[in-house]
Amino acid sequence: MSNPAVSNKEEKPEEQQKENQSSWKDFLYNPRTGEFVGRTASSWALIFLFYVVFYGFLAGMFTLTMWVMLQTLDDHTPKYRDRVSSPGLVIRPKSMDITFNRSDPLNYRQYVQHLESFLKPYNDTAQEQNELCVHGQYTEQDSSVEKKACPFNSSLLGQCSGQDDPSFGYAEGKPCVLVKMNRIIGLMPTGEPFINCTSKRDDAVPMQFFPSDGMIDKMYFPYYGKKAHKNYVQPLVAVKLLLTREDYGKELSLECKLHGTDLKNNDERDKFLGRVTFRVKVTE
Ligand SMILES: *[C@@H]1O[C@H](CO)[C@@H](O)[C@H](O)[C@H]1NC(C)=O
Ligand SMILES: *[C@@H]1O[C@H](CO)[C@@H](O)[C@H](O)[C@H]1NC(C)=O
Ligand SMILES: *[C@@H]1O[C@H](CO)[C@@H](O)[C@H](O)[C@H]1NC(C)=O
Ligand SMILES: *[C@@H]1O[C@H](CO)[C@@H](O)[C@H](O)[C@H]1NC(C)=O
Repeated sequence: MSNPAVSNKEEKPEEQQKENQSSWKDFLYNPRTGEFVGRTASSWALIFLFYVVFYGFLAGMFTLTMWVMLQTLDDHTPKYRDRVSSPGLVIRPKSMDITFNRSDPLNYRQYVQHLESFLKPYNDTAQEQNELCVHGQYTEQDSSVEKKACPFNSSLLGQCSGQDDPSFGYAEGKPCVLVKMNRIIGLMPTGEPFINCTSKRDDAVPMQFFPSDGMIDKMYFPYYGKKAHKNYVQPLVAVKLLLTREDYGKELSLECKLHGTDLKNNDERDKFLGRVTFRVKVTE
């Protein structure tokens, strides 16, 4: 009894395997019904067509909404921005620690080179292409597509222009530092904006400002953005620190602030809004 049962059991899996194999083959391609993976060619074609139409429709929807969105954008002004915010102040040379030996030109060369390259666009000959503007008045030009830029000649920076003194005061130990406001599109500072700097020390460090009193002319505002306002140059204020021998070897902490206008210069969270602090140490 047990023998046939065993042989039966042994036979069955083989048969099943064969059956499985043929049904697997049939599943891939069934020559009787002409089905391929369970579907006829026309059924597959319909499915394929459905997906082509479906994804085509999605792509069309996407393109259409993108196009509608882009129609609402203006090339020249950003669509979304905060209330015109307050600009940060930055200095050139770009360093929070200006330390150098005034007797060693190699030592302060990096600062001088930095100032030279930064002032290239301000070169008087480069600025000749810019049209004159009215001093003390905003240069509003909302209606024109190509905005004119007001000239800022580097000669306005006097002893800090690099013209008469190619070392920008570094060789004599009275270094120049340039202060500028970050560009903000549409910003129109009220009042009479100017930059003043103070040393965080009891006795004040004497300083000289260029243009005089550190004034920032309102004619350089508003700025219309990189694309529309091609030749725009940011107005600058140069500060010449009139250090003496007694100051050498000491680390001086200085703060420059934007005054005379409604822009922030005392924000607790952002200590670069309308102000900038840096350290200077001159040796000889
Ligand atoms: C500054 O440079 C001069 C000339 O190279 C050198 O004699 C002097 O020791 C340097 N001073 C300091 C504080 O490094
Ligand atoms: C402006 O640049 C030219 C050429 O680079 C140079 O010859 C000229 O001295 C510069 N002018 C000023 C005022 O820096
Ligand atoms: C800038 O310099 C050029 C060339 O020296 C001069 O023609 C122009 O009047 C100056 N512009 C200003 C605003 O000083
Ligand atoms: C700049 O700051 C110094 C030091 O606090 C002050 O004596 C001077 O009056 C200020 N200048 C202006 C124009 O406010």
